[in-house]
Amino acid sequence: MAALKELRVLGYFLCLFSSVAVMADDLSQGEVLFRQAGGYGCVACHGMYAQGDGQVGGNIRAKNLADINRALLQQPSMKGLSSVLSGADRALLAEYLAELNSYELINWTLGVGEPFQQVKVTADEHYQLVITNKGFEALTLQLTGISEPGQVNIAPYQTLAFAWQVKGSYLFLASDQSRLQLTLK
Ligand code: HEC
Repeated sequence: MAALKELRVLGYFLCLFSSVAVMADDLSQGEVLFRQAGGYGCVACHGMYAQGDGQVGGNIRAKNLADINRALLQQPSMKGLSSVLSGADRALLAEYLAELNSYELINWTLGVGEPFQQVKVTADEHYQLVITNKGFEALTLQLTGISEPGQVNIAPYQTLAFAWQVKGSYLFLASDQSRLQLTLK
């Protein structure tokens, strides 16, 4: 009984810190660092999924630990992060980039540019679709085939990502305004 009570007390304290604990549970440690290091994370300059997203830092999905160490030394805008990232942190970041790089990237940017986009994909390959809403309106997405039940909402300036293994051709819609057609090579 006493042990149970202790567990409950522990549970209470865990709840107090749950916002951090839950995040660490859902996301890998490398992903948390990528989003939060130094308070603004790598995402501020390299995009939410290291895909670049038109930001100053560009796409770094194919970069490794040596590249990270070099950039932290040499990039004036990254020097502030150099002192807050331990060797272990950098290794976790490199691991996270390697995981992202195991997927072929498809970027779908909404709210600007072409409303119709077509991409050729290879059957059985692993892809990550990164969707960024650069418009001022929330949109409803139809992502049948990669997200069940298929319908997903995206807020203005939100970025979402979906990873899956390609099985055929796909047609994705964003509130009927934009279409992304994936066809097999
Ligand atoms: C304030 C903006 C900013 C932040 C924050 C930032 N970077 Fe960078 N990063 C840059 C810029 C600018 C470059 C140079 C891009 C270029 O040369 O085109 C760069 C380059 C890099 C490169 C080297 C790319 C290459 O060509 O070898 C890596 C790796 C990298 N950053 C990783 C990170 C990681 C990991 C974080 C988070 C811990 C981070 N960056 C945070 C701005 C930033």
